[in-house]
Amino acid sequence: MAKMKVMSVVGARPNFMKVAPIVSTIRQHNFWKSTCAHGKSTAEECPRIEHVLVHTGQHYDKLMSDSFFADLKLPEPDIHLGVGSGSHAAQTAEIMRKFEPVLVQERPDVLVLVGDVNSSLACALVACKVSFDSKGSRPLIAHVEAGLRSFDRSMPEEINRIITDQLSDLLFVTEESGIRNLAQEGVRAEKVHFVGNTMIDSLLACKEKAQVSTILDDLGLRIARGDNGSGHHVVPYALLTLHRPSNVDHRDTFLNIMEGLEELVKEVPVVFPAHPRTQKRITEFGLEGKFEWSLVRHEAAGIGAVRRCGAIRITEPLGYLDFLCLMSKATLVVTDSGGIQEETTCLGVPCVTVRENTERPVTIAVGTNILAGVTKEGIRAAIRGQLTSKPTARAPELWDGRSAERILDAIIREVQARRAVSNGTAAAACGRVGPTNETGSGAHRRGEQARIP
Ligand code: UD1
Repeated sequence: MAKMKVMSVVGARPNFMKVAPIVSTIRQHNFWKSTCAHGKSTAEECPRIEHVLVHTGQHYDKLMSDSFFADLKLPEPDIHLGVGSGSHAAQTAEIMRKFEPVLVQERPDVLVLVGDVNSSLACALVACKVSFDSKGSRPLIAHVEAGLRSFDRSMPEEINRIITDQLSDLLFVTEESGIRNLAQEGVRAEKVHFVGNTMIDSLLACKEKAQVSTILDDLGLRIARGDNGSGHHVVPYALLTLHRPSNVDHRDTFLNIMEGLEELVKEVPVVFPAHPRTQKRITEFGLEGKFEWSLVRHEAAGIGAVRRCGAIRITEPLGYLDFLCLMSKATLVVTDSGGIQEETTCLGVPCVTVRENTERPVTIAVGTNILAGVTKEGIRAAIRGQLTSKPTARAPELWDGRSAERILDAIIREVQARRAVSNGTAAAACGRVGPTNETGSGAHRRGEQARIP
C-alpha cells in the first residue's frame, strides 16, 4: 500500500494525553518498518505513515497546553489554528472555518479525533462534509473514546460525544458501556472497536517518570523522617479539581461545594490546581478568602508557598507529570473531571466525583469512584465513605497500555480495505506491522480487536 496519511487533532488539555500514545505508536511503526522489515512485508502490507498534528488552540495558556507537549514528548504541532476562547458557537464555528482549508490542503486518509471537546466536534463536522475530488472522497473519521454517555444533554460534552460518534467511521471504545450505548443509537457494529483507553496508555508510560517530580516537596507534603532525616514520608492529603461550568459558574453552587469540603479541609491539606475558568470565578465571586495560594512560581524567585490553616491550597494548573505524581500519592481525589475518574481507577486511589452522573460507569463498577452529587450533604457523606474504605486497584478490561497499538492496527486495516474497494482488488488482511505485535497484548492480539457482537 502506498504511503498513508493520518491527521490527529488536539485542542484542549485532556486531548494531549489521549493523542500522545497514537503519535508514539506511529513513530514506532515507521521506525520498525524502516529498520526491521527486511523484506518480510511489502509496502502493500506495511505502509509508511505520515502523521500531521493539528492544534486548534482551544487551550492556549502555557500551563494548559505547552507544558503537556514537553511532559508527554509530543512533537510540536505541524499546524496551529490559534482559535482561543469564545462561546460554544463562536469557538466551534471558528475551529471549523480555520480547519477546513487545512484539511483540504493536507488530504489525510484518516482524521483522528479524541474525546468530547468542542475541537473534536468541530473537526468531525468539517471532515464529514469535505470533498477532496469529484468522487466526493473524504478522510475516514476515527473517534477515540467513543460511546461514553452521561445521558445528560445539558452537558456540552454530551452533545459533542453524540454527534462526533454519529459522524465517525471508526469508533474506538474504552469501556463496555460504550459498546452498548452505540448499539442503542444505531451505530453499525462493524464500525465499533473495543480497544481500551489511550489516556491510560499515557498514564502507564509516565507513571514511573512522574515519581521524580518535586511537587510533593514543593508543596511541603513530603517530609523527612527518622533521627538522621534519611527517609521521607508523604503526609496524607487530598487533591481537588473543579472546572465544570455547572459547578463553578454560579456563586451559590460553588459555595455549596466549598461547604461540602469543609470537614475534609479540617482533616488533611487539600491541594487545588485550579483551571483558569475557576480562578476567574473565585475572583468574580469574592471567594479569595477561602483559599491560600501555594506554589506561586515567581519568574525570578522560584517557588514560594504561603500557609494558612483551614484554607484550600490553590495552585496554578499543573503539568502532566506533577499532577500524575500528586494524584498517585493522594489519600483522596475530589473532582468533576471525566479523565481523572479513570486515572484514579487505574491508580487505585479513592475518588469522589462532584457530579450527578458519570459517562464512565466502569470507574464506579471497579469501586474506586463514587458519585457525590452536588449538595453539601452528599459531598460530605461521599468523602467520609471514601476516607474509610480501601478500594482495590483493578484495571478495567484492556486498560493495559496497548490501546494505541490496537487503534493503529484497525486504522491500517480500514484504509487498506477502502483502497482495495476503490481499486477493485481484495483487501490484504494485514494490520500494523511492528515488533510489539509479536508479543501480543493479552486479551486482544493484533488483528483481534473486539467488536460488538
Ligand atoms: C474544555 C472542555 C472540557 C474539558 C476542559 C478541560 C469543551 C466543551 N469543554 O472546557 O470538556 O474538561 O476543556 O480543561 O470543549 N481559558 C484560559 N486559558 C486557556 C483555556 C481556557 O484562560 O488556555 C479560560 C477562558 O476564559 C475560557 C475558559 O477558560 O473562556 C473555558 O475554556 P474552554 O476551552 O471554552 O472550556 P473549558 O472549560 O476549558
